[in-house]
Amino acid sequence: MSSIGFTRGETPYKNRDALLDDYTPDELVGRDDELKEYQSLLNPVIWGDQPNNIFLYGKAGVGKTAATRFMLGQLEHDAKQYDDIDLSTLHINCDGLESSYQVGVEIVNSLRDSRNQISESGYSKAEIYNKMWRALEQTANTILIVLDEVDHVRKDDSILYQLSRAHENGKLNETKIGVIGISNDMTFRSHLSSKVRSSLCERELSFSDYNAAELKKVLQQREAVAFKDDAVADGVISLCAALAAQETGDAREGLDYLLVAGDLARDEQSQIVQESHVHQGKKKVERQTIVKGLADRGEQARYVAYALATLLAEEQQPARFTDLYTRYESLTSRTGSRTLSERWVREHLQSLGMLGIVSIEEKNEGVSGGHYNLYGLNPKLELVVEALDETLDMVGVHDSISDYVDH
Ligand SMILES: Nc1ncnc2c1ncn2[C@@H]1O[C@H](COP(=O)(O)OP(=O)(O)OP(=O)(O)O)[C@@H](O)[C@H]1O
Ligand SMILES: [Mg+2]
Repeated sequence: MSSIGFTRGETPYKNRDALLDDYTPDELVGRDDELKEYQSLLNPVIWGDQPNNIFLYGKAGVGKTAATRFMLGQLEHDAKQYDDIDLSTLHINCDGLESSYQVGVEIVNSLRDSRNQISESGYSKAEIYNKMWRALEQTANTILIVLDEVDHVRKDDSILYQLSRAHENGKLNETKIGVIGISNDMTFRSHLSSKVRSSLCERELSFSDYNAAELKKVLQQREAVAFKDDAVADGVISLCAALAAQETGDAREGLDYLLVAGDLARDEQSQIVQESHVHQGKKKVERQTIVKGLADRGEQARYVAYALATLLAEEQQPARFTDLYTRYESLTSRTGSRTLSERWVREHLQSLGMLGIVSIEEKNEGVSGGHYNLYGLNPKLELVVEALDETLDMVGVHDSISDYVDH
């Protein structure tokens, strides 16, 4: 029997937690323009005016959540100097909340104390809304409600309207609320009814992708908190920044390169993180990024990606939409889940394109050939297949990709 033992040895880390996703940095670097704009949108709160409803969008990992937490923390702090403002902020992550009912329950429960929570079913929607208005009025005179990853609310989005129009509709007497919707799904906005869009997206703020120089700043700042002095070799930060910039412009991905490399160094009992550790961990991080992207977009997006992967495995070249749709239909029919219309499948392709997973090439062959798109995958096929692991379990492994699957 081999013997396994756990012992502590050398480590490059001072505070590894600072590389994890839920760490809020003290300072945000590389987002100066965005923060300035954000500040001016939040400014009415300091004057005791009706807050703006803000819709914040940008790709995954461009700092939307981090900037929001940072700005609202600052705002709460600064509002304390004015006696007439009693500000409260609420950060709701909508991942896992599909309907307005669920969002409503979440809001009520996060405002109530732990002994007074309501259950997730058994009320009418109107009752939930009433409980929500009451809880809001009892909380503060100004409330900012952040609905992060709001695109997950797909089933029934009436709450977005209810909250963002609460003032006009006289739902609240004393309390002023502002809604901050955050999404990395650029197609989400266009799916909102015009009524919801005009109120929720009253003011829009967009965060651009990070370039390598900005990512480097973000990573340098985090390096100083997470690692001991001189524990990260020259070139490591630039390498992580360059890899992340080239893939997606996602700061999370850059931080992951650093974390995986740091862990590899620690496992080797080394005090120094080297470029070789980053190279070793590269595939793992790329896979994680794809898995997260696909998880964010839900089951149907994974079927679409799966259909595309099988076609590319067969043909080794970009696919036309009609072929892709036919394959998608045949895959979903194996699972018993819904088959979406062509329009929705196109939307999923667009949004996978924004994630950097799908490549979309426009072809214009004039009058004879017409106008069409060709779809490919950006990451290596084997990485996408690996990331689709669970989907494969549900749908079964298509013949075309069996060579890519570990048996
Ligand atoms: N400008 C920045 N300065 C410091 N850290 C940053 C900055 N931008 C992003 N980060 C860090 O990168 C990670 C990803 O950022 P964040 O969670 O804010 O992305 P996001 O835009 O909300 O992405 P998603 O759409 O996937 O939710 C977090 O750990 C965050 O702390
Ligand atoms: Mg976020």
